[in-house]
Amino acid sequence: MFPEQRPRRLRTTPAMRRLVGETTLRPRQLILPMFVAEGAEAPRPISSMPGVVQHTRDSLRKAAVDAVRAGVGGLMLFGVPEKHDAIGSGATDENGILNLALRDLRAELGDDTVLMADTCLDEFTDHGHCGVLDAEGRVDNDATLLRYAEMGVAQARAGAHLLGPSGMMDGQVGVIRAALDDAGLADTGILAYSAKYASAFYGPFREAVGSQLTGDRKTYQQDPGNAREALREIELDVAEGADAIMVKPALSYLDVVRAAAEVSPVPVAAYNISGEYSMVEAAAANGWIERERTIMEVLTSIRRAGADMVLTYWAAEAAAWLD
Ligand code: PBG
Repeated sequence: MFPEQRPRRLRTTPAMRRLVGETTLRPRQLILPMFVAEGAEAPRPISSMPGVVQHTRDSLRKAAVDAVRAGVGGLMLFGVPEKHDAIGSGATDENGILNLALRDLRAELGDDTVLMADTCLDEFTDHGHCGVLDAEGRVDNDATLLRYAEMGVAQARAGAHLLGPSGMMDGQVGVIRAALDDAGLADTGILAYSAKYASAFYGPFREAVGSQLTGDRKTYQQDPGNAREALREIELDVAEGADAIMVKPALSYLDVVRAAAEVSPVPVAAYNISGEYSMVEAAAANGWIERERTIMEVLTSIRRAGADMVLTYWAAEAAAWLD
């Protein structure tokens, strides 16, 4: 009448629980996404992402140094330009805000961290889409590829170690890889946003980068109900030369993270995105959940699902806790 099996034995003390813990969470596995705004005179708070700011070039440098000291594995930069246009000129301009910030951080940090950049036009276009539009106003895949190739080379020259093409255009990884190689930039890698879903959780990010988008990204980002096509996207990106792949968002897609981890021959990243961050912050601010415990549970769950690295706005803070 008493149980023969008692799994609770392995939970009896903190030391026992530590001994049998399966999932590791280390600072080096965390990547901090950061925003830098052209012309900003002081860091600007992002109201829908409490604790996250649009940095000035100067405050970015300081925050980046702090994050690296805390042990984070890498930094992912996003630019917020003052001017937008149809082709996102600021993205390829060597004096565009993102490229300037990359130069600043590479000069400051050298190879002490892995510097990454969002290789996508949406922050720079006046229509807010991730690519350029054709005469009918549709996102033109192949015309966009030419812009990505140019943008990737500019970012690599500015000091990025890894490029993060996030626009979900067909062929983007291959075209950027070829452009880098042609430009003598064979050592610059690609962290491909392979399985990126058309998610409502990007909401706060739109404020974070001052997005001009009306409408949605459903003609290029994946439908939330589809898992099989994520594996196809991953396979294509690996074949095109991706050095690592990403699933995004993370929490509503942990099954996709798991499936990716099972088949991917290259490291797998998952992006714990803006809306996932804001939900936790809002609930914690209301006293509805315990903030630190929730954050650690979120990050651990993404690692448990199989992600080798996690992009999270909590990277620096969590790294300090883990230390
Ligand atoms: C596209 C891009 C987006 C994010 C990262 N890269 C926005 C989008 O696809 O709509 C979202 C990140 C987040 O929500 O935290 N440049």
